[in-house]
Amino acid sequence: MARIFLPVMLSLFAGSVFAAPALVTGAALPPNIADQAGGGLPNAPGEPKVSQTGLDNFQVANFLENLESAFFQEGLMNYTWWGTGGQTNGVSNLEVVSHIAAQEEVHVAAIVDLLKANGVRDVAPCKYSFPVTDEKSFLALGNIITTVGIGALIGLQRVLADTDPGLEPIVGSILPVESRHDAFFRMTAHEIPNPTTFETRISGAWAYNLALDFTVGGSCSNLPPSITSLPIFPDLGIVGYGSPSFATPNAPGKLIFKIGQEKMLPAGWNVQPLWIAWVNQDNLPAYTPVTINGNGELHADVQPGMFGVAFAALTNQNTATNVDDLTKATLAGPIPIPLT
Ligand SMILES: *[C@@H]1O[C@H](CO)[C@@H](O)[C@H](O)[C@H]1NC(C)=O
Repeated sequence: MARIFLPVMLSLFAGSVFAAPALVTGAALPPNIADQAGGGLPNAPGEPKVSQTGLDNFQVANFLENLESAFFQEGLMNYTWWGTGGQTNGVSNLEVVSHIAAQEEVHVAAIVDLLKANGVRDVAPCKYSFPVTDEKSFLALGNIITTVGIGALIGLQRVLADTDPGLEPIVGSILPVESRHDAFFRMTAHEIPNPTTFETRISGAWAYNLALDFTVGGSCSNLPPSITSLPIFPDLGIVGYGSPSFATPNAPGKLIFKIGQEKMLPAGWNVQPLWIAWVNQDNLPAYTPVTINGNGELHADVQPGMFGVAFAALTNQNTATNVDDLTKATLAGPIPIPLT
């Protein structure tokens, strides 16, 4: 069964606001974290030299990994009242989540070390607010946040391929770990763990916009220009999916979108033609035409033949052939849409 349970997570902020747990940086990583993670920071001496573009993109990765790390630390604390949670394949969910939380903490520390060794600041965590009410919604949001993280890491590899190809294996050693996390989240919901042939790359700017949905406004201090220079788009929500719900496999048919903060768009933004752009796996972005009804709701067909999680964004062109060009032409969004 395919699920669409998105707007819950992406548009509504339920739940209280937690301060991000203090991050432990490399040198200070306590030994129990390494045990819990299944390994600590790499012990090779010295850090590779990274280009300016590479460093800018690693700062964005630091911002995203901070959010992931805070999400799992907070979820881990929540297991105190969720109990050990359910079991998946005979292993307690709590046990798996404690590994995930520790692994994310080491990932953050590794990126922080890389930045500092190259003489640039690391990125301080913000405060976050997650629409989680129970273990089930935590694991469902874990699937989305991890999928965004995976897409952004492939985006980072795309950049490094040009600027710092020697660093690609470092990112490559993180990616499958994130995919294992994601496979686990899917299995807790009785979904097959491996829904797609390829993972879906997204841009740093798209990932940043998705992260902002869970970031408390004004809570980030002293962000570097690599992050403050990223574009901020209005949210794109889906009308009519207030809580987890189901759709026909691979073909939810039609969706109705609503723009969160229309005021952010320039006058005349709604001059048609407009499209919803769909990004999925290694395919060219697909475009389906948008019609706007009297309530300002945007109706668009879902591009058929997509699997896993697709990313949708509102745009006024249908010629961009990759997610980076599409990012430059994004009017609102993106929004992740779980399909299978
Ligand atoms: C933890 O639980 C609180 C209280 O239910 C909730 O507001 C918060 O979103 C939860 N966070 C996570 C990551 O599970």
